[in-house]
Amino acid sequence: MRELAVKVSKLKKEYSSASQKIIALKEIDLKIEKGEFVTIMGPSGAGKTTFLNLVGCLDRPTSGKLDILGCDPTEFNEEKLSRIRVEEIGFIFEDFFLISFLNALENVQLPLIFARNYINNDRSRDLLKRVGLDHRLTHFPNELSGGELQRVAVARALANNPEILLADEPTGNLDTKNAQGLFSLFRNLNREEGLTIVVATHNIKLGYSTDRVIHLNDGKIEKDERLGKQDGR
Ligand SMILES: Nc1ncnc2c1ncn2[C@@H]1O[C@H](COP(=O)(O)OP(=O)(O)O)[C@@H](O)[C@H]1O
Ligand SMILES: [Mg+2]
Repeated sequence: MRELAVKVSKLKKEYSSASQKIIALKEIDLKIEKGEFVTIMGPSGAGKTTFLNLVGCLDRPTSGKLDILGCDPTEFNEEKLSRIRVEEIGFIFEDFFLISFLNALENVQLPLIFARNYINNDRSRDLLKRVGLDHRLTHFPNELSGGELQRVAVARALANNPEILLADEPTGNLDTKNAQGLFSLFRNLNREEGLTIVVATHNIKLGYSTDRVIHLNDGKIEKDERLGKQDGR
């Protein structure tokens, strides 16, 4: 068995407001190996974002065990948590979240500056080249298409060379062609660089182009399907 990227045991997340409690994750157990390309599939409200936020150390579980790359983030203080977020995990969201007054190159440099306090033009340029955008380095977000914006977001997520890439409905704002393009970029990054990728989507076709589909519904894992190796797609 390969090393584990993520291991959760009896992971529970409860949100409470004045009027009600919602259990978004109901004691789930799950292991994801390093180098896996996995889809979390499920309808709206299933708990996909909650799960990714816990794995990405953006939020803390109510109870249960969480092991991310051999660390237990529930034992970390904020400073250590933010280091693991910045250095080990790359995030991509549905809405891209690029900074509008920075160009593509500057957006990709941002996490590098956070992590190490220096500007690395070469690395940022290489990453933009890697995602097929070396001709768009000095374009600002409002000069880029949806597909291009998401590629900049991928390059930014990879800036600190993370072990795990988490993507929360990354194709929600993309047309079919750009959505497929994004998933083939994920496939290449997974195959060529061994990047562990966990993507939440309710797009069945895209989900089934990955190696494993974990079906989440109402905070529980209903089915965990390992698909044949998808090489050659
Ligand atoms: N911050 C929050 N406060 C209260 N309830 C929340 C919060 N975030 C999510 N929920 C609830 O938790 C459940 C799971 O949400 P979420 O993880 O966002 O699902 P998904 O991403 O699959 O659509 C939903 O019922 C949602 O309304
Ligand atoms: Mg969600």
